[in-house]
Amino acid sequence: MDKIAVLDFGGQYAHLIANRIRRLGVLAEILIPQNLVDPAEELKTFCGIILSGGPQSVLGEDAPTIDSAIFELKKPMLGICYGMQLFVKKLEGKVKKVGGGEFGKSKLKILTKSKLFTGIPKTSVAWMSHGDEVVELPAGFEKIASTEDCEFAAIEDSAKQIFGVQFHPEVVHTKFGEKIFKNFLKITRAKKSWTMDQFLKTEISHIKKQVGKRKVFMLVSGGVDSAVGFALLEKALGRKNIFGLMVDHGLLRKNEAEKVHKSLKKAGFKNLKIINESKHFLAALKNITDPEEKRRVIGRVFLKVQRKALKRLRFNPREWLLGQGTIYPDTIESAGTVNADKIKTHHNRVPEIEAMIEKNLVIEPLAQLYKDEVREVGKKLKLPKNLIERHPFPGPGLGVRIICGESKNLKIKNKIASELNRKWRTKGKVLPIRSVGVQGDSRSYAYPVALFTASRDFEKLDEIAIWLVNKYPEINRVVLCLNSSKVPRTFQACFMKLTCSRIDLAREADEIVNKALISKKLYSKVWQFPVVLAPVFESEKEGEAVILRPINSEEAMTANFARLPKSFLNEVTKKLMKLDGVENVFLDITNKPPATIEWE
Ligand code: XMP
Repeated sequence: MDKIAVLDFGGQYAHLIANRIRRLGVLAEILIPQNLVDPAEELKTFCGIILSGGPQSVLGEDAPTIDSAIFELKKPMLGICYGMQLFVKKLEGKVKKVGGGEFGKSKLKILTKSKLFTGIPKTSVAWMSHGDEVVELPAGFEKIASTEDCEFAAIEDSAKQIFGVQFHPEVVHTKFGEKIFKNFLKITRAKKSWTMDQFLKTEISHIKKQVGKRKVFMLVSGGVDSAVGFALLEKALGRKNIFGLMVDHGLLRKNEAEKVHKSLKKAGFKNLKIINESKHFLAALKNITDPEEKRRVIGRVFLKVQRKALKRLRFNPREWLLGQGTIYPDTIESAGTVNADKIKTHHNRVPEIEAMIEKNLVIEPLAQLYKDEVREVGKKLKLPKNLIERHPFPGPGLGVRIICGESKNLKIKNKIASELNRKWRTKGKVLPIRSVGVQGDSRSYAYPVALFTASRDFEKLDEIAIWLVNKYPEINRVVLCLNSSKVPRTFQACFMKLTCSRIDLAREADEIVNKALISKKLYSKVWQFPVVLAPVFESEKEGEAVILRPINSEEAMTANFARLPKSFLNEVTKKLMKLDGVENVFLDITNKPPATIEWE
């Protein structure tokens, strides 16, 4: 079978490149460059080679690299971000660290005719995420596209068929990314021979082989991933060899546990039990405020609860594997590949689970897939539409949507506000809380800027948000105040624990938003809609802000903030402001990157 090699330098999207190639019907294999003993020899059988992005700088001493002998293979090559910078450096061009970087949307201008850009308009949107860039080309190369902030946005040596792009064609937000891959595949002359049915067949035989004579004890949440994972394991192993456990950790949505239990039973899942362990989880989280620590604690308690349940059910742990609905973004964001940086620890990727994976005690049939593919598998397994099309909800639930703030005083520069006013005639203030972001394949933990304006011109607001984050490294998000366009004199934040009353408040806010989404027929228009609670306020009395985070995405690796109608935003804001303790309502208008979908 014809195949393409993807050299994984640890970029958040390296795996997504392979996924895109497979969707175009060609087999793609991911290879870790450091694991190749004789790269030129091992890459000989591939039709083309793609070098991925990565979190490091090619200028760094320990940066992962590749043997120059691969350039002698005369195979078509495509370097993406770090991958392009690496071959430029190897071929004696120059790479430099420049300014604050470039994250998210940018306007790509194609400058000359290139086989890589056949059928693509002269200007289009491309997604960027980089701190370094190419400043001098190696001999034989020419510039084929630029953006406003990046001169060498795409380059080529047409004689040697080596192409480089600074942007990410693998993310859906790069408008013609798929076309670029199609063009590259044409250049490689690889023949199409890969399908999703083939994936299912191979996966079922993998499951049978890995499980052998054992059985699977699966943690289900009612979300798409665990439901599809459960159904796939059931299909491969038979009903009596799989048992599902749904844990109510006290951080679920309003009435979620009962709703999920009912809908899973209705969908035909029989071996299923629900247990309420909320006391256990909330006690463990009582004094935890750091986002990463919260995630680790939740993951650990899940495991304890599972072990306790095995004991109670008198299941022999040696006969039962732990099943999880882990999908690929959970792995990559938790630094699941050698060169990747850790963005956040997903609850199903805590160290204790990783130790169990090493001992072959865990089975994750969807670990190589993205959400949209999981939904496709769900359809093939004939799961009901309402289960497949639910919005994703993170394993740690509201636990990562209730920000605890910090006990120390955060010092932030407010010169940002005056520059914002001067350049964009828009008032803003930096909020004294932090959230997680993903910039240049690395984790960031930085501040949001809140904008105060009556404008709901989301395209313009998007431009302002992109400008702010690219210009100020201490900023990774931008929110828009929905309940007022007057800038308050100060904003304070305080340190608040994860208490039952805060969880109840988050639940009520989430319920208001979800009900409105359904009644206004907007549920299917957004991909996910986290509702976040943060301890920031402007008055003497301590209060909370509710932050709305509607996004659109395909596979959660990149996302656009969703443009929702003014009437919806007004109605929801009015209702949220009536909740006891809510002082402000903000709308998150940041894309991913630079922000992540969740705040923690
Ligand atoms: P971020 O916030 O990293 O989220 O952009 C990407 C997607 O993953 C979900 N998410 C999780 N899902 N366990 C999960 O099962 C987790 O620990 C977790 N953290 C984030 C998030 O809701 C989004 O859909």
